[in-house]
Amino acid sequence: MKLQTLLFSMLVALPVAAQTIPIRTDHTDLILKVAPNHRLYQVYLGERLLDVGEYDHLDWDVYAASDASVSQRGWEVCNTGGSEEFYEPALGITHTDGSQTTYLYYRGHETKAVDGGTETVIRLADDQYPVQVTLHYVAYPREDVIKVWSEILHHEKAVKRAGSIAADGCIALQAIHSTILYFRRPSYYLTEFSSDWAREAQMSSQQLQFGKKVVDTKLGSRAAMHAHPFFEIGLGQEVRETQGEVLMGTIAWSGNWRYTAEVDNAGALRILPGLNPNASAYRLRPGETFRTPEFIFTLSRNGTGQGSRNLQSWARRYQLRDGMGPRMSLLNNWENTYFNFDQEKLTRLMKEAKTLGVDMFLLDDGWFGNGGHARNGDSAGLGDWDVNRSKLPGGIPALCDAADGAGVKFGIWIEPEMVNPRSDLFEAHPDWAIRLPNREYYTYRNQLVLDMSNPAVQEYVYGVVARILTDGHDSSGQRDINGDARVAYFKWDCNSPITNAYSPYLGDRQSNLYIDHIRGVYNVMRRVRENFPDTPMMLCSGGGARCDYEALKYFTEFWCSDDTDPVERLYIQWGFSQFFPAKAMCAHVTDWNRQAPVKFRTDVASMCKLGFDLGLRHLSADDLAYCQQAVANWKRLQPVILDGEQYRLVSPYDGNHMAVNYVSQDRRHAVLFAYDIHPRYKEPLQNVRLQGLDADRNYQVEEINLMPGQASSLKGNGQVYSGDYLMKIGLEAFTQNGLQSRVIEIKGL
Ligand code: GLA
Repeated sequence: MKLQTLLFSMLVALPVAAQTIPIRTDHTDLILKVAPNHRLYQVYLGERLLDVGEYDHLDWDVYAASDASVSQRGWEVCNTGGSEEFYEPALGITHTDGSQTTYLYYRGHETKAVDGGTETVIRLADDQYPVQVTLHYVAYPREDVIKVWSEILHHEKAVKRAGSIAADGCIALQAIHSTILYFRRPSYYLTEFSSDWAREAQMSSQQLQFGKKVVDTKLGSRAAMHAHPFFEIGLGQEVRETQGEVLMGTIAWSGNWRYTAEVDNAGALRILPGLNPNASAYRLRPGETFRTPEFIFTLSRNGTGQGSRNLQSWARRYQLRDGMGPRMSLLNNWENTYFNFDQEKLTRLMKEAKTLGVDMFLLDDGWFGNGGHARNGDSAGLGDWDVNRSKLPGGIPALCDAADGAGVKFGIWIEPEMVNPRSDLFEAHPDWAIRLPNREYYTYRNQLVLDMSNPAVQEYVYGVVARILTDGHDSSGQRDINGDARVAYFKWDCNSPITNAYSPYLGDRQSNLYIDHIRGVYNVMRRVRENFPDTPMMLCSGGGARCDYEALKYFTEFWCSDDTDPVERLYIQWGFSQFFPAKAMCAHVTDWNRQAPVKFRTDVASMCKLGFDLGLRHLSADDLAYCQQAVANWKRLQPVILDGEQYRLVSPYDGNHMAVNYVSQDRRHAVLFAYDIHPRYKEPLQNVRLQGLDADRNYQVEEINLMPGQASSLKGNGQVYSGDYLMKIGLEAFTQNGLQSRVIEIKGL
């Protein structure tokens, strides 16, 4: 008998003190049990039980009563396939001897306090192979959020057999999920979030029947362009905003993720979020720990509204970079100038930023590349991060000086993971790009993806970022007199998926490319955050194709979409708000949809992190005065809009209007946003009933963000109402006018 097998049989001979492992939040119980066979099962996931003594009634053998033929099957917490379990495995391993079956036995667990909650760490191991799996659950009681991931470690020996892929001692991870969750309900409804360029976060729903529904991405980089890594599942009824049980989950991974919702033969739903196995059987070296992406979920019994507030406040407190901090309003030059600018033009725009009243000027694409590789369009220069000397002879320091002179901060765009074949970088390091050595390459937006699995490339990319952040230094150092970094902000873009998937660096370990590439991206992002902790950064990916909670550990906000048509934005922002707080969602006022008044466009952007991307010279005096007032109001109301609780009141998916209100944490202050999109002639209008107010408090209602000289036509404007009235009767905030918006401040007395 092998020593390991011997040790294990000694271990299993010990009495298992009916191990129950509760993962608890204020309203949710996830209860796991070690069964007599020493394996770990989910015995309950649902509303928190009042009496923990009743955990004893929960049976691991969930099928016993209904189907004796499968009585040995429970809901295994890390099911591995190839045993008595016939459905999609959470973890699939090919061992060095070729066996594809893993049995995981409970070896122990610990709990410890972590920021905001409790982490439970459960150790499992195989009895025949030196493979350990460690499950991590962090429960955040107040927010009702659970974050879960696992780690895989092995010490298998190399198998020296002709043709064996395991000659290097690697096991192959065929299926890698962060977890598996099980439910048994009468019906299940999935809401998914599909996407495309300028069409992000589109919500659609369907009932799940027997079999699998799989949503995934294979884009590698810019990975969430066609589907976003989050979903909602209505348990027992369709997903609703204010009632019903709903699971809301999101995979924290910027690369190829996949989630599977599978209804099995017994009518149970299995949910498997994790990595996409496509072309990614990960070869894991002995002694190396593989960490899955985090999966974050909340279980709401009051619909998605409550679930979103859970996730939003969890993100602000524990995951989003500087989640509790303020955010800067800005003026961006992209749609105003595209690649056509010089120092003088930018200096003028910086002054416009000051006139507008925003905090920062953000210089977009087009400031770098020289000679034949000047970035005057999107076909050259990516990778060459030296300032274009003919456009900007004074470089970044001169831009910082001009911003200082104008009295605004200076931010800059980069896309450091990419390269144009027409660049000095590509000419010097063709092997740094992901591309096949033996085929013509295919470019997307004229660019290739740098091979971030290569440490030399990571070093280069980090160096680019660090150099730009310190390049604006003056004689007093890299900080201005107020102590702020002179380059005060980054917009970090990522415009191409991985094409020509081959890493010149990884050699015969190509199946690790999609995962190691993203890990390399995170290595750089982590280093940037560590060394420049005070620099806020916008995550951008040709719009909103990077919108996950791993990247958002390193970024303060993300660009939701290049589509800034305010009507489309009502849908896009509605979609993203399901999972993200307003302060993480960048929204800019642009010239998309000029039929919509500037007021409408600005009011839509004011629901999130406000910015502008238009030339002030094209604004009428009234529009400019309006925008200045709206910026000042937005800054004043940040504690309500960005840090308050959000209540989605009227969905644009339901008709011709949309309304959302935000309430400050102390419930003394609220802001209602109401929009009329395309009301029908004589359409009967409903009052907008607010949510989240203090029923016993009186509030004064005042319409703000009015055009100069415009009097409010809101019935009851200036009056005092109780929270009770505003929540039960509401305000006549909607009108029959197309593209009209109202912003209403509700001040507690
Ligand atoms: C992407 C971004 C835009 C802009 C351009 C610049 O498309 O989403 O906001 O920065 O790149 O090339």
